[in-house]
Amino acid sequence: MDTSFSNKVLAWFDEHGRKNLPWQQNPHAYNTWVSEIMLQQTQVATVIPYFEKFMSAFPDVITLANADQDEVLKHWAGLGYYSRARNLHAAAKQVRDEFKGIVPDDLDALISLSGIGRSTAGAILSLAYQQPQAILDGNVKRVLTRYHAVSGWTGKSAVLKTLWSLAEAHLPTDQTGQSNQPNPPSPPLSQRNADYTQAMMDLGATLCTRTKPTCLICPLQEGCKALKQGNPTDYPTPKPRKVVPDKYATMLLLINDDNDVLLEKRPSPGIWGGLWSLPQFDDQQSAESWYENKYNHVFNHMEELDSFSHTFSHFRLHVQPIKIKHSIQAKGVMEADDNLWYNSGTDFSGGLPAPIKKLFKRIQL
Ligand code: ADE
Ligand code: SF4
Repeated sequence: MDTSFSNKVLAWFDEHGRKNLPWQQNPHAYNTWVSEIMLQQTQVATVIPYFEKFMSAFPDVITLANADQDEVLKHWAGLGYYSRARNLHAAAKQVRDEFKGIVPDDLDALISLSGIGRSTAGAILSLAYQQPQAILDGNVKRVLTRYHAVSGWTGKSAVLKTLWSLAEAHLPTDQTGQSNQPNPPSPPLSQRNADYTQAMMDLGATLCTRTKPTCLICPLQEGCKALKQGNPTDYPTPKPRKVVPDKYATMLLLINDDNDVLLEKRPSPGIWGGLWSLPQFDDQQSAESWYENKYNHVFNHMEELDSFSHTFSHFRLHVQPIKIKHSIQAKGVMEADDNLWYNSGTDFSGGLPAPIKKLFKRIQL
């Protein structure tokens, strides 16, 4: 495709890319693999000392495979996401037992190892084996969605597919011969697969950053569609927020002369099942009829309190609380199994939903 893309990225890398990271000094497959796993969720600066200690303790894949899991985890302590260490250890055993101790140099075999996905496999193959393999980590996704103005959440398989083909189309090829750095003479592009992968990571990490891309000094500014549109930070499209339907309810705060409030036990299963909440209705009309039937008393002196909302996993509940003073001597009486008069001044062994507790606090019940 567009070979000028990789030329520009490589020329930028020659000038500004990172070349002194410890795992770049001796980039064989095992080193590269360990560093890529550590770098998956952890910053470069944090990784460096861990990488160095890990490599002294487990200098090759067989030593790692034969180590105790405790020993491996001890060297990971502080890096977090320990499943990375357990997977790495398991994969080292796979390499020892299924691959004669040699870290495989093909995509499918690498992906068959625990903890190695397609992008990590691509990184290992390009960085350590100089193969023309693409990566698609968070940095590269950001650069490509912006450069090509690819919308849609990158977790969607159609979007991912598009990004993988773009990532592959941009790989340096040797068909055009030289990079655009005549002096000193550059190696042929085909030998620059490692540099290109590192360059894309570095460009995403240092220029095309999440919130403040520095397009003015970016080698890809010419041709970058998002820059042209003036909206680089609109990409990548964020994960869609789940839209949940709104539901409405009226709750009655029935308060007697002793400042007790009537609670009902919520049916189980269901929202707040088993907790004690306020009598709840679809609307004020239903609340009124319920009250008038139950207490044979007109629904007057009511006060509308400030409404509140609470989000459940499947809907958002908007509640209108209505307070009504009610002269009933019912203190401490369980009216039935599923309702009681509650006084915040006395011990209550039942559970109250958090929004109800908050409401009681707000009205200083
Ligand atoms: N993040 C993931 N891999 C990296 C690498 N090789 N260099 C810098 N940051 C990285
Ligand atoms: Fe990212 Fe800006 Fe470069 Fe486009 S021009 S790739 S948005 S830094």
